[in-house]
Amino acid sequence: MENKRAFEEINQELLDFLDHSPTSFHAVANMREMLEKADYQRLQEGAAWKLQEGAGYYVTRNDSSLIAFRIPRRDFAGFQIMASHSDSPALKIKANAEIQVEKHYVKLNVEKYGGMLCAPWLDRPLSVAGRVVVRTKKGVATRLVNVDRDLLIIPNLAIHMNRRVNEGYEFNAQKDLLPLFGGGESKEGFLKLIGEAAGVETGDILDTDLFLYNRMKGTVLGMNGEFIAAPRLDDLQCVFASLKGFLAAKPKDSVAVHCVLDNEEVGSGTKQGADSTFLRDVLRRINTAMGRNEEEYLMALASSFMVSADNAHSIHPNQPDKGDPTNRPFMNEGIVIKYSANQKYTTDAISGAVFKSVCEEAGVPYQVFFNRSDMLGGSTLGNISNSQVALNTVDIGLPQLAMHSCYETAGSRDTAYLIRAAQTLYSAAVCGSGDGEYRVIFS
Ligand code: CO
Repeated sequence: MENKRAFEEINQELLDFLDHSPTSFHAVANMREMLEKADYQRLQEGAAWKLQEGAGYYVTRNDSSLIAFRIPRRDFAGFQIMASHSDSPALKIKANAEIQVEKHYVKLNVEKYGGMLCAPWLDRPLSVAGRVVVRTKKGVATRLVNVDRDLLIIPNLAIHMNRRVNEGYEFNAQKDLLPLFGGGESKEGFLKLIGEAAGVETGDILDTDLFLYNRMKGTVLGMNGEFIAAPRLDDLQCVFASLKGFLAAKPKDSVAVHCVLDNEEVGSGTKQGADSTFLRDVLRRINTAMGRNEEEYLMALASSFMVSADNAHSIHPNQPDKGDPTNRPFMNEGIVIKYSANQKYTTDAISGAVFKSVCEEAGVPYQVFFNRSDMLGGSTLGNISNSQVALNTVDIGLPQLAMHSCYETAGSRDTAYLIRAAQTLYSAAVCGSGDGEYRVIFS
């Protein structure tokens, strides 16, 4: 397994990726850069695909979801897929955002995106990133934007004005979470600032998708550097590990598919989410472009495997009783396989066993997560994606604390474990049923 130095390098690269990915649009832009460096060619959904054996490609939808793949040969056996999500809970800026307060302040009107922990967003420097859509001579065009400086703050109320706040506080999103933008004279300044940051004329901005993000950079901490803490570990830690494993893989029998989907945090029900046709469309077009028929496509699906990779809960040091009594995942103790009898997670005995065999082949540790039987857990993209394209699927993630905070904590060794498992999955495994028996073959 990796030495200490290798773990450090991986963590540094992960923290850089997180730092440069304040929104799903930026995460996709950064992945594109990494893929293009590795000679992956961009495909457009709106053009015909001519694909070649041995080559690698990627395609985006809405600039916020991305699927990359490599085709080892025309008569490939199936698809080996790892799917993760590009979005994280955040505050999104509404149109006509400026609200002047008694001529002395300007604050911004925002709404919640996803199921966030509210408290961590207060009393820290925030900035704005996302995309703007501008008028051009020929129509409209999108531009990425990141203001990239300490700009906003959502101040708490002093304890003197709410003495009982530490007994529990219910955040009102329309009242408590609006960020302070400037003094009274900053009125009319917000869109101008966004236009400058995007390099466009303010008057050309027709619409925006803009989010607040935490300015605190990621870091390694703990007595022995055991932990990493950073914004958006859920789920960019899995996104990063999936892409690194994908780029290192050498697929021989199956098409390797690195799939990153947006809008998991709001139920996946968008054109670019897990409940859309995006993955299905891409798999079908790969099959068609390689000159294969419908039956060969269905045979390939039956010989495929999908890993739905979304971060998992580690046992909490201050609340250990929130975990299941017999299944106790901890940070740095490996990839977490998630189970739920109600199939909120797709894992069953077969997909769980297949993934365990992938981990064993890769030489990385794994552990198991169940919710307490008296607690409802979260859900993720695996079972939603399966309603669009049905594949043998396992739900996994890396163990972390403070999920959906704007600053989360995870293990400093686990990213490397998932990279190794992803590389093994993408390189080698052929899965499928034959002779009434489910088989996995590593090449
Ligand atoms: Co997630």
